[in-house]
Amino acid sequence: MITTLQDTTTLTNGVKMPWLGLGVFLVEEGPELINAVKSAIKHGYRSIDTAAIYENEAGVGQAIQEGLAETGLPREELFVTSKVWNADLGYEATLAAFETSLNKLGLDYLDLYLIHWPVEGKYQDAWRALETLYKAGKIKAIGVSNFQIHHLKTLLETAEIKPMINQVERHPRLTQEELIAFCREQDIQVEAWSPLMQGQLFDNPVLHEIATKYGKSIAQIIIRWDLQQGIVTIPKSTKEHRIIENSSVFDFTLTAEDMAKIDQLNQNHRVGPDPDNFDF
Ligand SMILES: NC(=O)c1ccc[n+]([C@@H]2O[C@H](COP(=O)([O-])OP(=O)(O)OC[C@H]3O[C@@H](n4cnc5c(N)ncnc54)[C@H](OP(=O)(O)O)[C@@H]3O)[C@@H](O)[C@H]2O)c1
Repeated sequence: MITTLQDTTTLTNGVKMPWLGLGVFLVEEGPELINAVKSAIKHGYRSIDTAAIYENEAGVGQAIQEGLAETGLPREELFVTSKVWNADLGYEATLAAFETSLNKLGLDYLDLYLIHWPVEGKYQDAWRALETLYKAGKIKAIGVSNFQIHHLKTLLETAEIKPMINQVERHPRLTQEELIAFCREQDIQVEAWSPLMQGQLFDNPVLHEIATKYGKSIAQIIIRWDLQQGIVTIPKSTKEHRIIENSSVFDFTLTAEDMAKIDQLNQNHRVGPDPDNFDF
């Protein structure tokens, strides 16, 4: 049972990761970013998800320092994720990219570092770099993003350490049942990106009906649906009231019937690129 915003899932190596975090994709460096991350920390979030390609790691790092100073929390209370970009996939290149991210964030370790996209022929070498960094204690947990079952199978053939996380697009229009089942078999925690489908579900009548029934917003219903299925989720908002709203999901439980209704909205429809057909 997940009952608070600080509740965690335990990854295969024993590291604890908050079930709910803040995403900062498409948030540029500047006061909006700083305020979003700081207000998330102030309102109880403990997990922040960024990436080298978001070009906002320095601001995220600054906001983390300020947020910790203002709340008095120690660094260890936070769970900070970043991701290595495609251009930096390779053993040496990934080691160097990690140092750059760490420096921009102003941290001395990361909680989670992910291979952002499964670029064919490149992710195995990048994974060896993540294993090296993990063994050196510079990253508490390592994982992948946008990996389909076949990418995971290929990686597992050569990996010494299994990925602890697979962060993938997942929302009611893309429920990812097969991938989730495979990850569960492999003890890989699934994490949902674009859980709110980047705002495209807020006029959905089925979700509207369920939201009305519980006296909650559609965003809250979707976030709760993720949590009740054991999926880590990282909705993005830069607005303080929505940051609070998206974390106010621990005072109700969706019935099995309502969970099933949301599952049935699946259309295998993506808002982001297809991991089997991307050219970046
Ligand atoms: N690994 C990957 O390849 C990958 C890809 C994409 C995203 N991600 C991660 O996943 C995170 C979340 O995904 P996302 O940013 O693409 O989209 P999202 O979280 O599905 O949706 C964000 C959008 O919903 C709005 N919103 C948030 N809460 C709301 C609420 N309660 N009511 C109404 N509108 C609300 C936000 O606007 P406001 O900000 O104006 O509130 C924003 O426009 C990202 O920030 C990033 O960290 C990872």
